[in-house]
Amino acid sequence: MTLRIGFIGVGGIAEVHLRNIAATDGAQVAAMYDVNPERLQEMAHRYGCAAYDDMQEMLQQAALDAVYVCVPPFAHGEIEFSVLEHGLPMFVEKPISIGEDPARQILDTIESRRSIVAVGYHWRYAQAAQRAKERLAGRIPAMVQGYWMGDMPMVSWWRRMDQSGGQLVEQTTHIVDLARYLLGNVREVYAVFAQRGMQDIVEGVTVPDVGCITLRFENGAVGTISNTCLLNQGYTVGLDILTRDAILEIRGDGLTERTTAQTVIYRNQENPYLSEDIAFLDAVRSGDPSRLLSTYKDAFLTQRVTAAANRSAASGRPVSLD
Ligand SMILES: NC(=O)c1ccc[n+]([C@@H]2O[C@H](COP(=O)([O-])OP(=O)(O)OC[C@H]3O[C@@H](n4cnc5c(N)ncnc54)[C@H](O)[C@@H]3O)[C@@H](O)[C@H]2O)c1
Repeated sequence: MTLRIGFIGVGGIAEVHLRNIAATDGAQVAAMYDVNPERLQEMAHRYGCAAYDDMQEMLQQAALDAVYVCVPPFAHGEIEFSVLEHGLPMFVEKPISIGEDPARQILDTIESRRSIVAVGYHWRYAQAAQRAKERLAGRIPAMVQGYWMGDMPMVSWWRRMDQSGGQLVEQTTHIVDLARYLLGNVREVYAVFAQRGMQDIVEGVTVPDVGCITLRFENGAVGTISNTCLLNQGYTVGLDILTRDAILEIRGDGLTERTTAQTVIYRNQENPYLSEDIAFLDAVRSGDPSRLLSTYKDAFLTQRVTAAANRSAASGRPVSLD
């Protein structure tokens, strides 16, 4: 059976999933909806599918098996409730919201309906993350250092705090999520953010352009994650995990493991975006979500940390997540 997949939001990241689905046997891009009519027509033409200018109509008429939700952070809420109402599995791009709400209410609905929902934390699917999990077995992770240092994405909503939630919520959430995946839940977070220049370079910037958070994990480990979107060049993006006898450095292209005996570099051989799409389609086909590495619940626990960091930065105080 060929799965009929619908899309809500067909901007930049949707293209990655559209390409993967179009190239996958057993699935087809069947329909799409976007609030931008030009973009909708362009993408529907490119993927040869039905274009809807009304989301409810698409959900009612397109005979879909699953839906991808690829909208900016501010647009979550009604979309997810509508998809769930139609009993459809969905893949939601991260972040799942700006603050804890409406993600908390969406999670409640997902759990009461036992719906299959995956979230696009693709770093979990990278072989580097899987290898790091193996290498951490039997070791005590003592601390982490995470980074997302680069330039500012130029989609217009990204620079506005009320539309994106800021760099930590929107982007560095991948690194917070990876740290949670490998070390477990976070008990406490403290954040300091500042604006150090982007507001004078790009009009309408309200997000901080530098920030650092300090984390205490439930297992006793501590860590810091720093981010900036101020640079005019790409720089470090990744997570380092320090143990007594091994240092693991995860980057977008793989994992470096340092011990006193040797330095070993593992390169990712597979595309983690494709791996997460295949895992989602398999879950839809089989009705079994057990091989999803990032469920909505996982994403919510990460969202709690980044939302708490925003509250901490605003109040100047640590925030407990107990
Ligand atoms: N996993 C990743 O690596 C990754 C990479 C890039 C973006 N993202 C995430 O994907 C999301 C979208 O980012 P993007 O770069 O594709 O943004 P984008 O601005 O390129 O695309 C967003 C699209 O959503 C549409 N849209 C906005 N509100 C809508 C609504 N209410 N209903 C339907 N369509 C709506 C816009 O018209 C636009 O076409 C963001 O949350 C971002 O963080 C994830």
